[in-house]
Amino acid sequence: MSKIGKIRMRSLLVLPVIAAAALGAMTLTASSVKASGGEAHIEEMDWSFNGPFGTFDRDQLRRGYKVYKEVCSACHSMEYMHFRNLAEKGGPEFTEGQVKTIASEYTVEDGPDQAGDSFERPGEGKDRFPSPYPNEEAAAASLGAAPPDLSVIAKAREGGPDYIHALLIGYEEAPEGVSVPAGGYYNPVFTAGSGVIAMPPPLVEGQVDYEDGTPNTVEQMSEDVSAFLMWTAEPKMEQRKRLGFQVLLYLIALSGLLYFAKRKVWSDVH
Ligand code: HEC
Repeated sequence: MSKIGKIRMRSLLVLPVIAAAALGAMTLTASSVKASGGEAHIEEMDWSFNGPFGTFDRDQLRRGYKVYKEVCSACHSMEYMHFRNLAEKGGPEFTEGQVKTIASEYTVEDGPDQAGDSFERPGEGKDRFPSPYPNEEAAAASLGAAPPDLSVIAKAREGGPDYIHALLIGYEEAPEGVSVPAGGYYNPVFTAGSGVIAMPPPLVEGQVDYEDGTPNTVEQMSEDVSAFLMWTAEPKMEQRKRLGFQVLLYLIALSGLLYFAKRKVWSDVH
């Protein structure tokens, strides 16, 4: 075969390998590309789940759940989460027993029974987290604005957990010249409302008792609940990252194999 033909063959072999490797690398880095926010007040946090190998901190997720339950759930629903999700791998990994107890502390509506009526019973693993308000209108009427469902909020807002964390600690005195209507609060992180938000500052120092002895500062509770909401928005994140890494390893091994196969096939061509 002519020299040109040889070179052409070689590039034919190499091209798909490069393309496949690039694809693998993209899968991996896609998770680490973060929305940068752009607003001045949003600090980029050093989350344990950042980067292609980052994982959730189980203790942090458990604390974050407690903050959601004891504080946020008074106003916000989390309707895509089932109690049993709390026991799944890659999340807070509560035991089945703990999940049973957690679920049973909620009252859920079920039905119809044989008479055609709906009835209330204690929650079970298969149930979704019940909403604190019967509908959005009722919530908006009592709070001034409807609190959004928190299940996927970390994916729905630019900046994700960084944004939620910044929002929760972002309340300030309104500056001169900014008038805050009754029932509103000043929070410059909430650019959607030009700095005025209907959510009262939800966290106060020492509000949630942490069983693991972590100091329950506003900063800590805000970080913990933001991490928890990142998990509820992407419960399979750890699995996805692991798969991406395995694909990359596979592609590297395949490239090596193809390289040696090619050398062998062409070994006696001069
Ligand atoms: C007293 C009720 C109440 C509590 C408690 C509460 N919120 Fe809110 N929250 C609201 C309301 C109302 C809004 C809608 C605000 C608006 O649109 O002006 C809101 C909005 C939000 C938003 C969306 C902001 C945006 O960009 O649209 C997030 C995120 C949020 N809350 C997180 C939390 C978290 C986390 C907690 C628990 C630590 C919490 N909230 C506790 C009432 C509450």
